[in-house]
Amino acid sequence: MIDFGNLIAAQPLSALLADYPVVRDFFLNLNLPPLNEAKSLADALLEADDDWLLEFGLTREEIPSQLAAFLTTMTAAESGRAVTSLTIIGGRDKSGGAENIELHIEPGTVVSIVGPTGSGKSRLLGDIECLAQGDTPTARRILIDGAEVTEDDRFNLEGKIVAQLSQNMNFVMDLTVAEFLEMHARSRAVGVSGDADALIKTCFECANSLAGEKFTPETKVTQLSGGQSRALMIADCAYISQSAIVLIDEIENAGVDRREAIALLAQSEKIVLISTHDPLLALGADKRIVIKNGGISAIIDTSAEEKASLVELEKIDRLLYNTRKTLRAGGQINDLGTL
Ligand SMILES: Nc1ncnc2c1ncn2[C@@H]1O[C@H](COP(=O)(O)OP(=O)(O)OP(=O)(O)O)[C@@H](O)[C@H]1O
Ligand SMILES: [Mg+2]
Repeated sequence: MIDFGNLIAAQPLSALLADYPVVRDFFLNLNLPPLNEAKSLADALLEADDDWLLEFGLTREEIPSQLAAFLTTMTAAESGRAVTSLTIIGGRDKSGGAENIELHIEPGTVVSIVGPTGSGKSRLLGDIECLAQGDTPTARRILIDGAEVTEDDRFNLEGKIVAQLSQNMNFVMDLTVAEFLEMHARSRAVGVSGDADALIKTCFECANSLAGEKFTPETKVTQLSGGQSRALMIADCAYISQSAIVLIDEIENAGVDRREAIALLAQSEKIVLISTHDPLLALGADKRIVIKNGGISAIIDTSAEEKASLVELEKIDRLLYNTRKTLRAGGQINDLGTL
């Protein structure tokens, strides 16, 4: 991962802007007065007006670190490095017992992770996110394309091939949803071709269809609810970001149409792993990892019988959904047949 703090401190603004044109958007958004681009950001800010700083409630020290956080977000998952397989090599459970497994996962596969609360589902996602090499509490190892990840690669790849969808969108910046998508598309150069607008539109519409409560392109990202920002991140992952591996640590009731979201991600030829307590999501996956006492205790391929059961379960789920909707709207439940 690039240390943007150092990068920003070490070079003149002109060089930074040449490498990361998106920095200009950041300045525009903060409404910064023109800066001397021959100087580093910190030095250029020394010349900035005190009144301007006061107006925005910012200190000279805060701006470079906010820019570093912004660049980290904007360039995450940028590389577009293709991944042909992800391998999880077992370590040990909480009691020290060996997992004895080796699981290969290929693009276009959705894997659910099930197990009781506290069993270690998030830990497994964490191991994948940091491309663990035996150095986490589970001692698991993660291979990419069947090969060990070297220490150098590990830090270069981190945040690039894996996107973890639990992060929230608490940007310091006052961006609207449309601005966020536009900037992200541009910073990733997806937007260079003429169809950037169409892509952004598709991404926005998708995010909205996933979110329970609708939002507009003019909504500020900081004003999105948890479910809405998650929906935006999922759509962003499917259409704009090129990270090959998507990890979703499920929060219950996130207000996102989760099955639709997973189907969308699966279609985008990514490797998707989702920890879940939702039986429909668990069965909707191609296979599921069962976690017990911190260890992988089983890996089950979803059988044809299970897929058939899923169809029945979806009917029950639809019934419950309609019941909830009717009750919320002040209605009464006298005849299930009408729901
Ligand atoms: N193999 C292991 N060895 C040691 N500690 C572990 C192991 N697996 C998980 N843990 C630790 O157990 C704790 C609970 O695990 P985790 O948060 O992953 O549970 P979870 O299944 O995600 O629970 P929830 O369903 O509530 O989200 C964490 O502190 C985690 O680091
Ligand atoms: Mg968890």
